[in-house]
Amino acid sequence: MLTIGVLASGKGSNLQAIADYIKTEKLSVKVGAVLTDNPESSALAIAEKEGIDHLCIPEAEHKTFLSSATEKKYVETLKKCNVELVCMAGFMRVLKKDFMEEFPGKIINIHPSLLPAFQGLAAWEQALRYGVQFTGCTTHFVECGVDTGPVILQAVVPVLKEDTAETLHRRIQEKEHVIYPLTVRLIAEGRISLSGRRVYINN
Ligand code: GAR
Repeated sequence: MLTIGVLASGKGSNLQAIADYIKTEKLSVKVGAVLTDNPESSALAIAEKEGIDHLCIPEAEHKTFLSSATEKKYVETLKKCNVELVCMAGFMRVLKKDFMEEFPGKIINIHPSLLPAFQGLAAWEQALRYGVQFTGCTTHFVECGVDTGPVILQAVVPVLKEDTAETLHRRIQEKEHVIYPLTVRLIAEGRISLSGRRVYINN
């Protein structure tokens, strides 16, 4: 059984998708903890409903990075809950080196673009502004940096003529809810290997 911890700041739809997939596919995966920096995050209510241990560890200042003291609280809580794989699901902070070193090669993220295009905030708006024909979403291993690291899975979403930021993000999220649970499954089944920066998926 693989114990994962989910970090979320927003509405938590990826958390819900992962929790649903674990149940329907009877995966040997347990969500051991849900942590958020945002007391308003719906991830807390989802975790409560799903019977998952959850905690809000807020940060006084709204910055890209958490303070080292706050990061330490995240690490301690994740370790206490025996988390082996950290899944960032709309957690809008960049983790620092000390955090990363506690979970080497065991932190993944989902981003709403075909990385390395459109890193950072509101990637779907960036895609619309740029005028690309296709965008999508990416799961990847996390490195120190904003939305960088070896790519695991990607899904492509066409940009339609009538798309607004909202409709495009909604369609990207439908794909996120497919590739993020699948990524967790592949890792739980030991089917992901890394050679340099290249991820291989084994049958
Ligand atoms: C998702 O679209 C995710 O890709 C994005 O935040 C949203 C969270 O949605 N993450 C990033 O932009 C990371 N740079 P959710 O709270 O409904 O899971």
